[in-house]
Amino acid sequence: MSALFEPLKLGNIQLKNRVIMAPLTRCRATEDNVPTELMATYYGQRAEAGLIIAEATMVMPGNSAFYREPGIHSNEQVAAWKKVTERVHQNGGKIVLQLWHGGRACHPILNDGNTPVAPSALAINGSVHTPEGKKEYVIPQALNRADIPAIVEGFVKAAINAKAANFDGIEIHGANGYLIDEFLRDSANIRDDNYGGSLENRSRLLFEILEGVINVWDSGNVGLRVSPMNSSNSMRDSDPEGLTAYLAKRLNEYELAYFHVMRADFLQKQQGDVLSVASKLYQGNIISNMGYDYTEAEDDVMNGKVAAVAFGSAFIANPDLPSRFKLGLDLATPNPKTFYTHDGHGYTDYPRAQV
Ligand SMILES: Cc1cc2nc3c(=O)[nH]c(=O)nc-3n(C[C@H](O)[C@H](O)[C@H](O)COP(=O)(O)O)c2cc1C
Repeated sequence: MSALFEPLKLGNIQLKNRVIMAPLTRCRATEDNVPTELMATYYGQRAEAGLIIAEATMVMPGNSAFYREPGIHSNEQVAAWKKVTERVHQNGGKIVLQLWHGGRACHPILNDGNTPVAPSALAINGSVHTPEGKKEYVIPQALNRADIPAIVEGFVKAAINAKAANFDGIEIHGANGYLIDEFLRDSANIRDDNYGGSLENRSRLLFEILEGVINVWDSGNVGLRVSPMNSSNSMRDSDPEGLTAYLAKRLNEYELAYFHVMRADFLQKQQGDVLSVASKLYQGNIISNMGYDYTEAEDDVMNGKVAAVAFGSAFIANPDLPSRFKLGLDLATPNPKTFYTHDGHGYTDYPRAQV
């Protein structure tokens, strides 16, 4: 019996297997950031996953970092997400929603000309695709202390909305250089108030958000994703392993559904083993991600290093990924050209394997 196909209880969420679909932004919502029927089809096709972590979703308006990514701040969005969760549940799956604030990755062109906010006035080095072509990231406005409670409140309202949309839980997006991660890592946070400097201060926003959302959901329905190693969006930390250790120890007090650790660097500029640190110190369930194949995932679960493994790109081209693993079938290769386009091509038209 494969370890990846052992059932698993993540807090209050019972999974049929440990093959998790990683959150994947695919830009198939409407221009008003409302989920579409196409998204219901796409997620419904992937319900074989033990758990689907639905894509980064705006907790409040005015924080678009892509184009046509979804939100969960209006009644219309909640109604549309309900159709997605219904489809996944009908097909026997479980689905949580990744709650997200894009921070300095948001662009004025996508947000009525408004300057994005971040812990400090430091821009991402690079450019972003907008409807007006490629544009350089802008220098964000450093958040005033007085404006931080409204951000926490945004996550709390989004958590309430995710419940109304019948998700099985929520994942707080603390990864990949977006707002929470910008506070966590010292390359993006040079504040000198009690939200910057020490690990305690840099993680203050994260824990305020966690405290807020566990008043809405039981902590056993809440997960957290971090990427202490990932250097995309100009991110770095002077001590990723120290940051991971600090978070792992503090998170033990929360009894979350899971701690989701991106173990490596997308851009492979930084080396380090944050997963081993998390695995040693965190007492709950760890979901690991990045660059796994079936064999390595199986080994890490079998050895008890992690509870489950999330697969990103493999789920794009293989809606039936768990079956393919189980039957030892070849995997289809995803086409990066259609990752962020807006129709069904390269989205809902990847077939199941012929057996
Ligand atoms: C098209 C695409 C969109 C992504 N969107 C998100 C996202 O919305 N939230 C997130 O936390 N990570 C996102 N990621 C990262 C993936 O969740 C995952 O970490 C990454 O693909 C590495 O896992 P893999 O090696 O199994 O593909 C995205 C990755 C890709 C390729």
